[in-house]
Amino acid sequence: MAFNCEVTELAGLAEGKPSAVFPLGLPVLLIRRGGEVFALENRCAHMGCPLAAGKLDGHILQCPCHDWRFDVRDGKFIGAPELSVRTYPAEIRDGKVFVRLP
Ligand code: FES
Repeated sequence: MAFNCEVTELAGLAEGKPSAVFPLGLPVLLIRRGGEVFALENRCAHMGCPLAAGKLDGHILQCPCHDWRFDVRDGKFIGAPELSVRTYPAEIRDGKVFVRLP
């Protein structure tokens, strides 16, 4: 069963600045890029560091702990796509951001 959760107002989400939210108690990271919002688990695939403090360059997010880099569009680790951070479908509706959670 999946839940479509309203997580924030789009206006409150700064362009290019990762924002941590906790829908249903889950650590989710929102990233607004251009006209889109991406949602991924706020936990690095390496040793679990929160990615919210990571550095964003385009669609690439670098973990603040050991510099692993992930594409926020699909969560894949750059250089070894078999490793990834979980992503969640996100959509913008009526100025609000919704994330579909398992
Ligand atoms: S915990 Fe993210 S790179 Fe190590």
